[in-house]
Amino acid sequence: MPAESTRSAVKICFTPFRVVSLPTMKKFDTKEINELIHSRRSVFPKDYTSEKVDDAIVRQMLENANWAPTHKLTEPWRFVVFTGEGLTKLAMFQSDCYKQVTQAKGTFDEKKYEGLKSKPRESSHIIAVGMKRDEKKSLPEWEELGAVFCAIENMYLTATAYGVGCYLSTGGITNFEEAKSFFGLGSDDKLLGFIHIGMPKELQITGKRKLIEEKVKWINA
Ligand SMILES: Cc1cc2nc3c(=O)[nH]c(=O)nc-3n(C[C@H](O)[C@H](O)[C@H](O)COP(=O)(O)O)c2cc1C
Repeated sequence: MPAESTRSAVKICFTPFRVVSLPTMKKFDTKEINELIHSRRSVFPKDYTSEKVDDAIVRQMLENANWAPTHKLTEPWRFVVFTGEGLTKLAMFQSDCYKQVTQAKGTFDEKKYEGLKSKPRESSHIIAVGMKRDEKKSLPEWEELGAVFCAIENMYLTATAYGVGCYLSTGGITNFEEAKSFFGLGSDDKLLGFIHIGMPKELQITGKRKLIEEKVKWINA
């Protein structure tokens, strides 16, 4: 049976292993799940209130991330969660790192620097997302990256289900080699971005997509 945490009003479901009886479809409310997937939106820090998101919800996001598909069970996703004063640590690190790297290259931009220093405090939590390369390199890198992005989608959907806002940022210091070690990543690993999390203000966001029919070909004969 999955263990449930009762430390918070939000009950979290942790499962180190899980036996599933197939077909599972009957157990789920497919209408609700379709609606969850379609109504997942990126919610940006300007649209967060100052309310802190319950840590238990963030833990559930991480737990659900851990159940993403993974070829050869390499489980390449790695996360560092920043909240409270941790957000100040992230702000100081990312702004200093940005300054050091860009000043050396002559591409320093004061506005970007100030943003990196102040923005983290607009979120309740920020999760740095990394891909840890399996030591044997038994899979091509793109497969490992794919698994981590599946984990990210699990987090996005979990946040939506709990009425929490989040978005993935791949800007700032994401592509800086010099930033990796701060997040426990080595030279073969990748820093993939930052999931910003906050309680959303009351607002309406319009999602839009081109029709799926434009992107699919069926071959049935
Ligand atoms: C791989 C990836 C990288 C992204 N990077 C950024 C980013 O750096 N900045 C940003 O504002 N949004 C970023 N986003 C969020 C997109 O802006 C957002 O998904 C898109 O606008 C569609 O909106 P929706 O998520 O509400 O459907 C990223 C999304 C993905 C999947």
